[in-house]
Amino acid sequence: MGIEVVVEGLTKSFGKQNIWQDVTLTLPAGEVSVMLGPSGTGKTVFLKSLIGLLKPDRGRVLINGVDMVNSPEREIFETRKLFGLMFQDGALFGSMSLFDNIAFPLREHTRKKEAEIRRIVMERIEVVGLLGAERKLPGEISGGMRKRAGLARALVLDPQIILCDEPDSGLDPVRTAYLSQLLIDLNAQIDATMLIVTHNLDIAATVPDNMGMLFRRELVTFGPRELLLTSEEPVVAQFLAGRREGPIGMSEEKDAAALAAEAADPRTRANTPREIVPQLEPSPGLPARRAAARRRERVLGMLDRLPPAARAAIERTYASAPTAPAMPLPAAGSGS
Ligand SMILES: Nc1ncnc2c1ncn2[C@@H]1O[C@H](COP(=O)(O)OP(=O)(O)OP(=O)(O)O)[C@@H](O)[C@H]1O
Ligand SMILES: [Mg+2]
Repeated sequence: MGIEVVVEGLTKSFGKQNIWQDVTLTLPAGEVSVMLGPSGTGKTVFLKSLIGLLKPDRGRVLINGVDMVNSPEREIFETRKLFGLMFQDGALFGSMSLFDNIAFPLREHTRKKEAEIRRIVMERIEVVGLLGAERKLPGEISGGMRKRAGLARALVLDPQIILCDEPDSGLDPVRTAYLSQLLIDLNAQIDATMLIVTHNLDIAATVPDNMGMLFRRELVTFGPRELLLTSEEPVVAQFLAGRREGPIGMSEEKDAAALAAEAADPRTRANTPREIVPQLEPSPGLPARRAAARRRERVLGMLDRLPPAARAAIERTYASAPTAPAMPLPAAGSGS
């Protein structure tokens, strides 16, 4: 089952350029989380910091008691094997067939025999819907297929934590919808802890249990999906509505004067309340997501610490939840 990832006070700079500071969050075991943020806010740097490929200046990333920032390199290397990483650009080797690309981590990191490798690779190829394409080169298939090949490769070492960096970039809306379903189905099948970096509003609205957002060198917020989806924080609301009006500018954050002018402009659209669509369920025939029941307990336990809009949305989520029909909502004050 998935492993919790605890991030405490993480701060990263390149030379004098501070990327983000004091990032603190927990990816709950087996749950799916999404990290949002405008381009250049350091989302990819964050993923690389979680697996110890980049060294933050301060803070800790705890996985099974190992700190991916400050532990000896040998321990970090071992713990890194728990991760599956799907890169932003697919990062396939152009001269290798899809089969060899997907087999690569097994040949690199294990001593498995070719027959065993073949069994694992073909299984993963089937999971991502690429059966029949395994002999093709990356240049001979579509961008969407390359994405799925990258995902299959992230899965061969049976990861307990899966990081996906913009899995949807370059995909059409229909392919993106299939990918969203694939991510949820994967979670149901392997119960891995997942963190997805994306700009895609449909993925953000339908896939994760939790969401966070990086902006202005900070983690603006991180919490249950309903918290972000009902947020009145200007930057979160702007991002999730895909509006020009708000603190996020074309190339960098807007200054105060630009924001004031915008607010005074009668053409500026008012915040329209967003409707929360239900989270995706695993495809028929698949087991229920094990994290769903854990998440329900966890989120219901934090209700009184959430703003009213988020609380109401969570109560609606679980009032109509098909995932855990056997368990009634705990009545306030009752001990059962
Ligand atoms: N190895 C590096 N050395 C120096 N600066 C870097 C390095 N890697 C990233 N940066 C800088 O860190 C900042 C954040 O980059 P990052 O790639 O994490 O952004 P991002 O949020 O993933 O953006 P996008 O949504 O466009 O992928 C950028 O200003 C980038 O130039
Ligand atoms: Mg990036």
